[in-house]
Amino acid sequence: MTQTTQHDRPDENPQVMDFLLNRRSRPAKMLRAPAPDAPMLRRLLTAATRVPDHGKLEPWRLVVLEPEALARLAALIEARGAAQDMDPAQVAKAAQTFRGSPMVVAVVAAPKPSEKIPEIEQILSAGAVCLSLLNASLAQGFGACWLTGWPAFDRPFLEQGLGLTEDEQIAGFIHIGTSDATPPDRPRPDLDALVTWLRA
Ligand SMILES: Cc1cc2nc3c(=O)[nH]c(=O)nc-3n(C[C@H](O)[C@H](O)[C@H](O)COP(=O)(O)O)c2cc1C
Repeated sequence: MTQTTQHDRPDENPQVMDFLLNRRSRPAKMLRAPAPDAPMLRRLLTAATRVPDHGKLEPWRLVVLEPEALARLAALIEARGAAQDMDPAQVAKAAQTFRGSPMVVAVVAAPKPSEKIPEIEQILSAGAVCLSLLNASLAQGFGACWLTGWPAFDRPFLEQGLGLTEDEQIAGFIHIGTSDATPPDRPRPDLDALVTWLRA
């Protein structure tokens, strides 16, 4: 029998670690068609929903938005912006992120009534779905990014446009498509300023 020392890590996966150390989003405006096809999207969503979920409540759901739906939602954003007398530039920018995107997956936080699992834990699990979908898309070679913007908080937009119930919220709009370039990285956190070691 081989002896296992403290330093043997048979599950080590340097390629995944290298991905995590270097991953970065692609700006939505850099994404173009093709978006993932249906079998590929199923693979990405399977990876995305393999997340920690306290109590196995599955307190999230996914709405896949294809180009015609994105065009309809962009028009609804314009209507909602006008109805609220919003800054036209802000409205146009939000509409364009939908109209210009090859595919968006809306990750919906759908907390379940539970005496045991606090709502924040359920919403964090929805956030985990967002990051997993983003990372799965990047790992599969797509460009992707996680956006929200004011429409993610506009109840009429969410309920009329996307069919959310009043108890549901948007955790993120994950834009996925093909990206031809990798933009320069942004500055990353200074760990020394953020990490405290309690050694006793
Ligand atoms: C919940 C959430 C919402 C976000 N919404 C926006 C947004 O509306 N507009 C934007 O420019 N960036 C937004 N971002 C930030 C983008 O995802 C940004 O590109 C990201 O910080 C890139 O990080 P990465 O390269 O580590 O993936 C959001 C991020 C999160 C976590």
